[in-house]
Amino acid sequence: MIKTSIRNVSKRSVKSILSYYSVVNPISRVVVPNVTKLAATHNYSTTGTKIQPRLTSENYPSVKRDPRYKQLTNENIEYFKTILEPKCIIQDDLDAFNEDWMRKYKGQSKLVLKPTNTEQVSAILKYCNKQKLAVVPQGGNTGLVGGSVPVFDEIILSLSGMNKIRSFDKVSGIFKCDAGVILENADNFLAEHGYIFPLDLGAKGSCHVGGVVATNAGGLRLLRYGSLHGSVLGLEVVLPNGEVLNSLHSLRKDNTGYDLKQLFIGSEGTIGIVTGVSILCPPRPSAFNVAFLGVESYEAVQRVFIKAKKELGEILSAFEFMDLKSQQLTKAHIQQPAPLEEEHSFYILIETSGSSKEHDDAKLEQFLEKSFEDGIISDGVISQGETELHNLWAWREMIPESSQANGGVYKYDVSLPLKDLYSLVEATNERLTQAGLSSETDKSKPVISAVGYGHVGDGNLHLNVAVRQYTKEVEKCLEPFVYEFVSSKKGSISAEHGLGFQKKNYIGYTKNAQEIKMIKDLKHHYDESLILNPYKYI
Ligand code: FAD
Ligand code: MLT
Ligand code: ZN
Repeated sequence: MIKTSIRNVSKRSVKSILSYYSVVNPISRVVVPNVTKLAATHNYSTTGTKIQPRLTSENYPSVKRDPRYKQLTNENIEYFKTILEPKCIIQDDLDAFNEDWMRKYKGQSKLVLKPTNTEQVSAILKYCNKQKLAVVPQGGNTGLVGGSVPVFDEIILSLSGMNKIRSFDKVSGIFKCDAGVILENADNFLAEHGYIFPLDLGAKGSCHVGGVVATNAGGLRLLRYGSLHGSVLGLEVVLPNGEVLNSLHSLRKDNTGYDLKQLFIGSEGTIGIVTGVSILCPPRPSAFNVAFLGVESYEAVQRVFIKAKKELGEILSAFEFMDLKSQQLTKAHIQQPAPLEEEHSFYILIETSGSSKEHDDAKLEQFLEKSFEDGIISDGVISQGETELHNLWAWREMIPESSQANGGVYKYDVSLPLKDLYSLVEATNERLTQAGLSSETDKSKPVISAVGYGHVGDGNLHLNVAVRQYTKEVEKCLEPFVYEFVSSKKGSISAEHGLGFQKKNYIGYTKNAQEIKMIKDLKHHYDESLILNPYKYI
């Protein structure tokens, strides 16, 4: 509980400013659906317009189907029937596999294959490689750069049939599973043993363990658990020629030669299909707290961050920021009262997690009291109990869906020096307004607004341009402008979502010519026939 001795300099009682969430927001008023199932089900009551995605080939006519790839024949299907059970060969109702989460890209695949083991993946790739049939590996299809869906008629190889947990070592925390295990299922399994998956993100109800490895997803707790490049210990990968690379090691330290698994982490299905993952999982913290705060400037966001790192130290597990517009869109979409009664220019979500609730509560409260006293925080609430904690997280995790709900969204996930992070959002809004493309109220304009949020703790901004429809004019206004801006600040054009189809032509804004050549060499070396995920990445 907040101690009665707490006082603050703004002369209001602290309790009226910094309340436990249930005090200002009785839980009955805030029934936000389980955010972990977001991308999986969409079966809750929200506002939204579902646009029909256009075919990628029509939207990007300059990208031509490469004639080196063979067209699928009945003979090919007959061959796949010798490898897979009939129910694992899908030829009808393929929209859910052809369309991406943003409804921005749509392929024309006529075939989805769902192998259930590594040998089948190997046999499929061996055959496709010989036949020159292009293949798109697909996990939970929650990717945000058009990488998980075909561009033309590529065969979709879905990993969703490979969903077994292989082993778990309760002493070391080493977890091994098939690539198609859904992230949330992996985490629920680990929770039963007192462990946690070292990555969490809003799409965890749908995305696969193999998918997050293939994209090197960052997520909400990278600040605490680091990148998958550190926690993945080994991988089993089927190479484009069907060879199986068994590198599913359990060693934290192994300095014998190149660290091969790293090549596949973040390779977005371009040089191999991940079929098995070995990952080191930390003990699950027993005490979690979430504070949701309002501040008046981006400068204040940075000041709170510096303070949080210093004063919360080892218990700080997430530090996320959101601008006002992102919260207005979320409020309109989920139609629930916001956690804070008044509006603020920026919001911060701080999560702490540790092993002693009493200790963490005291530390967080002290930190917040001091921040109020310093005048850098204007308002705030702290979760009380698990449901409230999830509800507060929802105001952050619902932003991706809310910014897409009125038609579509142009997404940019960039790394920038912290001091420059928000200036990209301001510059983008200015540019769109000057071009006469943007209005929050005038529905004849394609753009509603550019909003900013993200993983401040990792220097990662999400710039989302919420639109009523996807148009070439808006795309041209944004690209390469956004990439030029990021490059001028020596940032990265992709902090976590990857290159996919969207950024294939823009890698040069972050990587130099020598780096690009080396990436191309690797791609050509491992995928000589270039059958894996063509038209993307590089
Ligand atoms: P898919 O979308 O199916 O595939 C992504 C890419 O990986 C494709 O190129 C595909 O070909 C390839 N691929 C998939 N599986 C394999 C495999 N087994 N072997 C080889 N290649 C494969 N990303 C973040 O980094 N941080 C976030 O916080 C985050 N939050 C999200 C929230 C929402 C609501 C949504 C919709 C997406 C979010 N993402 C986030 C983006 C996305 O990258 C992650 O959801 C996830 O990493 C994708 O996993 P997936 O299984 O859905 O892969
Ligand atoms: C997030 O941080 O919410 C994700 O990366 C997804 C997104 O930005 O859309
Ligand atoms: Zn993110």
